[in-house]
Amino acid sequence: MDELRDALRQGSLSPERRHLTHNPGVAGNPGTFAPGELVLLLDPDGKRFLVRLAEQDALHHHRGAVRHADIIGRAEGALVRSSQGRVFAAVRPRLVDYVLEMPRKSGIVYPKDAAHLLGWADIAPGQRVLESGVGSGALTLALLRAVGERGHVVGYELRSDFIDLTLGNVHAFGGALAGNLLVRERDIYAGLVDGDLDRVVLDLPEPWRVLPHLPGALCPGGWVAAYTPSIIQASQFIEAVRADRRYVQVETHEVLLRGWHLQGLAVRPEHEMVGHTGFVSVARLIAEPWEPGKPRRPT
Ligand SMILES: C[S@@+](CC[C@H](N)C(=O)[O-])C[C@H]1O[C@@H](n2cnc3c(N)ncnc32)[C@H](O)[C@@H]1O
Repeated sequence: MDELRDALRQGSLSPERRHLTHNPGVAGNPGTFAPGELVLLLDPDGKRFLVRLAEQDALHHHRGAVRHADIIGRAEGALVRSSQGRVFAAVRPRLVDYVLEMPRKSGIVYPKDAAHLLGWADIAPGQRVLESGVGSGALTLALLRAVGERGHVVGYELRSDFIDLTLGNVHAFGGALAGNLLVRERDIYAGLVDGDLDRVVLDLPEPWRVLPHLPGALCPGGWVAAYTPSIIQASQFIEAVRADRRYVQVETHEVLLRGWHLQGLAVRPEHEMVGHTGFVSVARLIAEPWEPGKPRRPT
């Protein structure tokens, strides 16, 4: 693992190690549960327990122990009983189940925002995406899944402890990613050492400081996206994008996700929702500066 982490950080992957571990147990794979896999145990009250299967381990629930050995070898969706007869459904975790449970030391891009960012920055299989900073790796995981086996994600991160955390989280979730990850310990404000980029995705305090480095590294037609917790940062980013005169399709969004409680006649929005996470800003690089007109007023 240490050797792989060093190789990933330095960008010296041997061809046979370029792909992240492929977990045979990703959702959609009909195989049975195997030791070492992540499993999500759901109890009848909707509580969720994320466990990594090991022959000798058990989940200790207040309604009895669930032995991993009773899950290993079973098909996804199997029901297992605790020592006190409590029933649990065993399924493979979604990426969002994992991201919300995984170890983190930074703020993360929440799944609702990551999904939106993937759509609005048009991130797709086969692309080469630069991400900075990588933090805990939540967005890295979403990007890796989106670019797929033929794509690449290159991360620039200042802090080595965050690089270790991200690599650990990416490898712990493993399989469905099937992409290539390279993380460089670098200050992105100092410039880029990678080129031929289809997309650049920023989650750091001053994303506008990256803009001068993009022409020549980000392909014309490519998108830059910035995730910022404060609207002041979003505004400063957008002003810098406009001043650069080389961007089109400039937009900033906030994503509000409201769950609904649907049970019999009790059909209403959930009482609680996440009030604020961050803003997603996107812009698209063109080949040379131009004179865009003033944004149109709504009629
Ligand atoms: C909010 S965290 C990113 C979280 C990440 N997007 C996730 O979903 O887990 C911001 C990260 O940017 C890194 N960072 C800040 N300034 C940087 C710079 N100039 N170059 C590279 N990384 C930087 C920080 O060390 C931190 O890890």
